[in-house]
Amino acid sequence: MGKKRIGILTGGGDCPGLNAVIRGVTKTAINKYGMEVIGFHDGFEGLIENRFTFLTFEKVSGILTQGGTILGASNKANPFEHIVLENGKTVTIDVSDQCMELYQDLGLDALIAVGGDGTMTIAGMLAEKGARIVGVPKTIDKDLMETDTTFGFDTARQVATEAIDRLHSTAQSHHRVMIVEVMGRNAGWLALESGVAGGGDIILIPELPYQMKEVYRVVRQRSRFGKGGEQVVKKIVEDSPERVRLGGISHRISHQIEEATGIESRVTILGHLQRGGTPTPLDRLLATRFAVKAMELVVSQERK
Ligand code: F6P
Repeated sequence: MGKKRIGILTGGGDCPGLNAVIRGVTKTAINKYGMEVIGFHDGFEGLIENRFTFLTFEKVSGILTQGGTILGASNKANPFEHIVLENGKTVTIDVSDQCMELYQDLGLDALIAVGGDGTMTIAGMLAEKGARIVGVPKTIDKDLMETDTTFGFDTARQVATEAIDRLHSTAQSHHRVMIVEVMGRNAGWLALESGVAGGGDIILIPELPYQMKEVYRVVRQRSRFGKGGEQVVKKIVEDSPERVRLGGISHRISHQIEEATGIESRVTILGHLQRGGTPTPLDRLLATRFAVKAMELVVSQERK
């Protein structure tokens, strides 16, 4: 009998620590359990299109500290709703049976799906079709259900906190209001924790309704002269499972503050800067622990 094999893919948006998981899984599988590891390219796209690579010690060496994912990711690929062009028209087809055939043909013992809510939903549906799945939670937003924390969050929080620290001095020099817009989608964790750590005077998060009157009062009080709920949709991405892309609320708030108080205001939108770069030690540790645990679950055949 040949060696046992597992597959791994990274789905959804990228996040610092993904490479640490890929490395941790590969090294544990090879070193501890004598298994082979197949890495699918670009999340579920690799499973759909039969694109993968054998992960070796050499391939994962030196990636612990790198941001992004050496396997690539996709936040659109979905075997149950695969978009193809038929007679010049885009149609959605279910190619999950074909993915299950590849899973069988490759002789996979399990598939480790590293991702957020979208990836876990698809992985759960593949599990119902018979695939053995171990999910590794990933997101800078820290918004996955049944999950206390996720790797990537600490790095994003660090980037956001450092940005706030840097903006303090220029805010003071010009007696301006500085607004920093962070990521997080419908979860306020990044805003709340970087805001508190950076000493923000006002922190607005989606979970708590706020009154602009109160914002103006604090701004006036804090100036030398002297609560969310709201969402701003940046764009709709039709072929994405998460169609709504949020962003730009800080410009609206900035405008309102200037109008109401007469105090100059400037906006910084951190965007994808928060998802890039080298993961913090905490994220590297968490990602490595998740990787080792994922392999233990693969081997023990435990169901959680
Ligand atoms: O879920 C992670 C996240 O970075 C959110 O904080 C953000 O709203 C979204 O992804 C951005 O997605 P995209 O990279 O597709 O623009």
